Amino acid sequence: MNLDESFWSERYLSGQTGWDIGYVSTPLKEYIDQLSDTDLKILIPGAGNSYEAEYLYNKGFKNVSVIDISKIPLENLLERIPEFPKENLLHMDFFDLNETYDLILEQTFFCAQNPELRKKYVSKMHDLLRPNGKLVGVLFNIPLNNDKPPFGGNKSEYRSLFENKFIIVIMETAYNSIPQRDGNELFVKMIKKGE
Ligand SMILES: C[S@@+](CC[C@H](N)C(=O)[O-])C[C@H]1O[C@@H](n2cnc3c(N)ncnc32)[C@H](O)[C@@H]1O
Repeated sequence: MNLDESFWSERYLSGQTGWDIGYVSTPLKEYIDQLSDTDLKILIPGAGNSYEAEYLYNKGFKNVSVIDISKIPLENLLERIPEFPKENLLHMDFFDLNETYDLILEQTFFCAQNPELRKKYVSKMHDLLRPNGKLVGVLFNIPLNNDKPPFGGNKSEYRSLFENKFIIVIMETAYNSIPQRDGNELFVKMIKKGE
């Protein structure tokens, strides 16, 4: 299955967006709520309609970028926040991005990628972070699908995948998931390891 721009745009156009909860998720909201440095340069990859970017922006974080391979959710975000900086709406493939950030927020982007790309995902996340930069968010801790997104996984698999390039500070079942995901996702906080 080719998980390209047309695949994802078709999902948005046909309303097959089961991942879209319509509000900032509680694990990410609670993490954001304890951040004090509004100058942090933040990336949300595969951001979709990006209620997290909206939440950050409205809290005064102005250095927030979202990247999505489909233009549709980026346009939706701009409709909700017309003043969102256009240069921070990145309509492109995550794997082609060359920038660096202090913090990257993950939610249902990892599970949207073909599992063959997981090593590449980890390397790319590492490259996109500044020294001591953090990758924070949620990862599903259940098998899910084999043939189409969402692709699942488990904690031991993720540990071996990330531990070469990241210090795993937290990788635990989230205590504050939204009801539909309760018990099925890990909250992760990982710090980029030095070269
Ligand atoms: C399952 S959705 C999750 C959206 C959002 N994170 C959320 O929680 O609602 C996956 C998103 O990643 C985007 N996407 C998939 N592959 C991508 C890639 N290689 N580069 C950038 N965006 C990608 C899709 O267009 C889609 O919006």
